[in-house]
Amino acid sequence: MRQTIPALSTRTYLDSAGAGLPPLSVTRAMREFVERWSREGERFEEWLDDILKLRERFAELIGARDNEVGVVPSASIGLVELASSLDLSKRKKVVVSDLNFPSNVLLWLRMRESGLLKKVVVLRGRNGIVPLDAWERAIDEETVAVAVDYVSWLSGYRERVREIANLAHRRGAVALVDAFHGVGVFPIDVRRDGVDGLVCGFYKWLCGPHGAACVFLNEERLNSMKPAYLGWFGVKDNVIERAQVKRDPFDIPFPVDKAEPSATAARFEWGTSAAVVVRGAVEAVKFALSTDPGSRFRVITRRKEELITGLRGMGKKMLTPTLEESPGGGIVTFEAKKHKLLVEKLAAKRIVVSGRYNHLRVSPHFYNTAEEIELLLRALRMV
Ligand SMILES: Cc1ncc(COP(=O)(O)O)c(C=O)c1O
Repeated sequence: MRQTIPALSTRTYLDSAGAGLPPLSVTRAMREFVERWSREGERFEEWLDDILKLRERFAELIGARDNEVGVVPSASIGLVELASSLDLSKRKKVVVSDLNFPSNVLLWLRMRESGLLKKVVVLRGRNGIVPLDAWERAIDEETVAVAVDYVSWLSGYRERVREIANLAHRRGAVALVDAFHGVGVFPIDVRRDGVDGLVCGFYKWLCGPHGAACVFLNEERLNSMKPAYLGWFGVKDNVIERAQVKRDPFDIPFPVDKAEPSATAARFEWGTSAAVVVRGAVEAVKFALSTDPGSRFRVITRRKEELITGLRGMGKKMLTPTLEESPGGGIVTFEAKKHKLLVEKLAAKRIVVSGRYNHLRVSPHFYNTAEEIELLLRALRMV
């Protein structure tokens, strides 16, 4: 498998939380796409078919159905689309965590500032963790939604999504999750976890390209959660729905007097996708589906253990909770003053990690070996 990922032979790559490394199948599919586009121009209906394939395959990855998944340009946009689908007529409070990626905080604060929400509770992480009882205290009958990341992009803490979703449901709120550091790392089942809405991009743990993401909306919420905005790909009887039943996508005009969203999560697909990216994303998900998520997770956890043990032995101050406190995710972060300098010194040795606010974040994937972890630890002892 390592031989299908060319970048692994030129560097010690430990930054899959920043961006995963693409296998040849992904880059080859994208290259062939561009070459054919160059020779023949647009292949509109074939490209629509890629969107269907992406929805289908992504649904398989997270235990969802095809009609619950839509393809959008980024995870951040996916979150906005879910937010715009909330019924804010009675409840105007949202609970989030400051361990979330900034988009999953800023969006809600902006909604409060623009008057759409009355209250946004931002739970504060201490030592990289927001305890479950903090969620329990904050979620109440005023709460319309809880927005949480499966795994914190910074501390690597794995939130207890199932329990948080339960708390939300008990009080009549919905659970919206950013699964960017979850899908491709550990097995995810949206039904088991009680997730109502989910977003995930492809360019990290799924080893795909930048510029596309999927939004999931639970079938049970399709009636009650309709977006405030709509485009020609999201309208009922859109071009893809027409092509699916072998109709000409342009057989009748789109309505100009009524804007009814699609009955499926296609309602989130406002307009034309980055077709070459979608083609690459299809291959990336195929790559993920070709390996067992359970064994991938076991390898990632082993690499994480090796890292934590080695870093502790060096006396590093860890931001990432212990494996007992947080059993999941592939992110290990520790304090590193002058992080930029350290990242550069490691890069000079062809070791790739990322620096974040006086911390170093190391994120091994299932394609990394114990030797690569040892190489990093040795380099850190020397710099
Ligand atoms: C958890 C998480 N969500 C969202 C994003 C941003 O995704 P996008 O740029 O596709 O909106 C990131 C980027 O690092 C992230 O870590």
